[in-house]
Amino acid sequence: MGGVAIVFFGPPGSGKGTQASRLAQKMQLPQISTGDLLRYHVGAGTEIGKIAKPIMESGNLVPDELVTQMLRERLKQDDAICGALFDGYPRTTAQARSLDALLAETGKSVLVVLHVDVPDEAIVDRLAKRAQIEGRADDTPETIRARLRVYREKTAPVAGYYEAQGLLVTIDGDRTIDEVFSEVDSVVYQRLVQPAPA
Ligand code: AP5
Ligand code: MG
Repeated sequence: MGGVAIVFFGPPGSGKGTQASRLAQKMQLPQISTGDLLRYHVGAGTEIGKIAKPIMESGNLVPDELVTQMLRERLKQDDAICGALFDGYPRTTAQARSLDALLAETGKSVLVVLHVDVPDEAIVDRLAKRAQIEGRADDTPETIRARLRVYREKTAPVAGYYEAQGLLVTIDGDRTIDEVFSEVDSVVYQRLVQPAPA
């Protein structure tokens, strides 16, 4: 029963993964990134990976049912009993509803949605840098543009779903990693002490 579910929400390259991984370490909760899970499937050549690979390379979203099914399996693992930090999920309103339903099955609910806000220019800059270091398949200039467009069209509206429930907190992500994390940490602490009214 109970447990903490925190969502990191924001455009590609906003720092969701960076911040979620720091908070995961501090809170001793798993960081669940649907992007990382999908990249694992692509690398392993599974059926999910075969479907996801061309979609990810184009910058589009993998179908809701596939991602939610993958997430359902991940949440069954023991390390998620006390909760999890969600990084890059949900990305559509349908996924947000599925997450609520999945969490409700184990008596959990979303504590807070951290919207990491970063302007497009900074994003393009960060991802171009990462492309040189890591060579992620979707960090090409064309796919970065597509990912930003898909974010605006399909994912940004999810903010309204959470805002209506008093769960959305926007954080200026265009600062140093430490500065952003210090705000992430204090927002989460405040919400743990005083959750949004149901
Ligand atoms: P996903 O893996 O989630 O990628 P993304 O959302 O495009 O975001 P990134 O992982 O690129 O960025 P991030 O916000 O995690 O930032 P990071 O910390 O890495 O998704 C990839 C694809 O998978 C999607 O396009 C889609 O096809 C599919 N997919 C995934 N989830 C899905 C879902 N739920 N439904 C459907 N399809 C799904 O930081 C970025 C860079 O900036 C790093 O190099 C980092 O070191 C640097 N950085 C971080 N913070 C700072 C800072 N404060 N200042 C300077 N640099 C910084
Ligand atoms: Mg990420």
